[in-house]
Parts: sequence; C-alpha cells; structure tokens
Amino acid sequence: MIVTIDGPAGTGKSTVARRLADSLGYEYLDTGAMYRMVAFHVVSKGVSLTDSSAIEAVAEETQIDFRNGDAYLNGTDVSGELRQPDVAVAASMVAQIPRVREILVQRQQEIAVGRDIVCEGRDQGTVVFPKARCKFFLTASPEIRAERRLGEFTSQGKKVSYDQLLEEQNERDRRDENREVAPLRPADDAELVDTTELSIDEVVERLKSQVQSKL
Ligand code: DC
Repeated sequence: MIVTIDGPAGTGKSTVARRLADSLGYEYLDTGAMYRMVAFHVVSKGVSLTDSSAIEAVAEETQIDFRNGDAYLNGTDVSGELRQPDVAVAASMVAQIPRVREILVQRQQEIAVGRDIVCEGRDQGTVVFPKARCKFFLTASPEIRAERRLGEFTSQGKKVSYDQLLEEQNERDRRDENREVAPLRPADDAELVDTTELSIDEVVERLKSQVQSKL
C-alpha cells in the first residue's frame, strides 16, 4: 500500500506523514530530505547553484540512505544539517533540474518497492506513484504556514524573522509551482485537505480513516 502526501511547506505535511505512518505501522519516506541532501552536497562541495551540469554530476554521486529516521549522505548522518533554512532554499533550486528529479524519482520508486509506505513530497501523487491507492494534498494559508515554521525554528533555538520566512516561503512556492518538470499541484484523484483550522491530530485522524476505508 502506498500513501502519498503532497503540498507546500508549512502545511504540517512532514509531521502528519510521520505520525500517519507510525499509527498505521507503515514506513515513511521524506522525499524533501532527498532534495535537501543533494543541495547540501552541492553547497558543501563549493559547486555553484547556477551550474546545472556540475549539480547533475554531484547528484549522480550522492548516495542516499535512511536508517532509523536519520538521513545518510554517502554514509554520513546529515539529518541536522538538512534542516537549515539555506539548505531549503538551495533544495528548491536543485529541484528544478530535470536530471536531478529523474535520479531522485527513480530512487524513491526503488525504496517503495514491496513496502507499505507513506511518501511525502511535492510530486508523489502526480509523478512518482501515479497509481497509489491513497493520495492527499495538504494546503493552508501562507501566513499560518510561515507562523508554523517560525514556531519550529524557535523551538530549535534558532532565530529567524517571520517576515523573512514568509518571503522565502513565497519565493519557494513560486519556484515549486512554476518549474517545468513536476510542478507542485494536486493529482486529479488526490483528496485536498485544508489544514489552516485543523490540529495535527485532526489531520492525522482524517487521513487515517480514509486509508483504512481503502484497505
Ligand atoms: O519538503 P521540503 O521543504 O523538505 O522540500 C525541500 C525542497 O525540495 C522544496 O523546495 C521542494 C523540493 N521538493 C521537490 O521538488 N519534490 C519533492 N518530492 C520534495 C521536495
């Protein structure tokens, strides 16, 4: 059984996907972390974010593994590094390169083979798993999404301004929605869930009952 959860940042997608996977006893795949890993690798090698062919070469040699909820890049745990705001910005840039997407889509499909899994990202229901039995697309107002992300950073002891977060978020949304390959949009058969007024628990319950109704 493959469950896909797509939508922009700040909709509660990652938390919902992780909690849904836990409560169903499924595995969880964070595909945003895969784009972040390529981005982090690119930046740490000193490669320019505008040099597509050099980025493609880095993507080819980026070995991605997940173990016990941690993300490993060529054997090193980089989970902490991936959460940095500058890595998120770089990720949305490398995610525009078709060859990078091709490599990561293939890896995502390999990871899911033979598993019960909740796959979370931007293109899981549209491109990566078009035949998934359960597809969700989460939305929320831009302001509440920025507020939620501010809360996350603050709880990690990081200082970021709300205005800056909102501005970066709008910029990222624009890039994610307008890129030529796999732009962010709901699959025709996805259920849209507006999380603006809902708690995480309510969203998880709603998705869980939908999945169970299809089992
Ligand atoms: O979900 P996230 O914030 O970790 O994603 C980081 C970036 O990667 C984001 O700008 C969108 C991109 N991404 C994507 O293009 N396709 C995915 N399946 C997941 C993430």
